[in-house]
Amino acid sequence: MKQETGTKRIIIAIDGPAASGKSTTARRVAERLGYIYIDTGAMYRSVTLKALQQGVLDGLRHSPEGVSSLLHDISICFDGDRVLLDGSDVTAQIRENRVSREVSFISSLKPVRDRLRDMQRELGRQRGVVMDGRDIGTVVFPDAELKIFLVADARERAKRRYVELLAKSPDGAGLPDLDLLEEEITRRDQDDAHREHAPLRKHAEAHEIDTSDLTIERQVDMVCKLAQEKEAKVR
Ligand code: DC
Repeated sequence: MKQETGTKRIIIAIDGPAASGKSTTARRVAERLGYIYIDTGAMYRSVTLKALQQGVLDGLRHSPEGVSSLLHDISICFDGDRVLLDGSDVTAQIRENRVSREVSFISSLKPVRDRLRDMQRELGRQRGVVMDGRDIGTVVFPDAELKIFLVADARERAKRRYVELLAKSPDGAGLPDLDLLEEEITRRDQDDAHREHAPLRKHAEAHEIDTSDLTIERQVDMVCKLAQEKEAKVR
């Protein structure tokens, strides 16, 4: 179902912990409503990849202010499902485990958050976007007409991540086991929820949806129904 002409386009903010189903839900909601999907986690992952590529990550732990030079002329763009960092396609690289392990540290740095927040606001300026992340409803777009907070049981989230990794490496070689994945996911949630700047938090107005026992189709239906109610109100 595509966007009807004349309908007011809204901003849909989808936040929640790692592997709670945000990106799949957000992508499909955007498709159905004819909106643009923006994966803000991919932006934090891109900055992390750049720090790894330049070999500056360890240095930043001692002197975090050095991150400004990394951000100086960074370019992060979306081309459909592809993510371009400084013009190169990094879609696969930003999902590697070495990036997942370091992304919470990079995303805790204030200059990184300030810069990406401004880029995200610019991307959503024309509205008609579904943006997923950790602070979209609380910090980036506190005026988003629809705010969703997705949660799911940590074991269930580890299983989803495992299935995702297995799809990329069908023989299962080198895959972390479920316990390790659950531990990594839980640690990342702790780090994201307890950082000083823009921690992962549910906005008071957000609709919380527990996806542990829901199919993707059902999650998408629920979010689209809420979105259409909001669109009707701002017409
Ligand atoms: O959604 P994801 O797992 O790709 O996100 C990767 C990391 O980026 C996540 O651990 C925290 C950070 N992040 C953030 O701090 N704020 C956002 N809006 C999105 C992601």
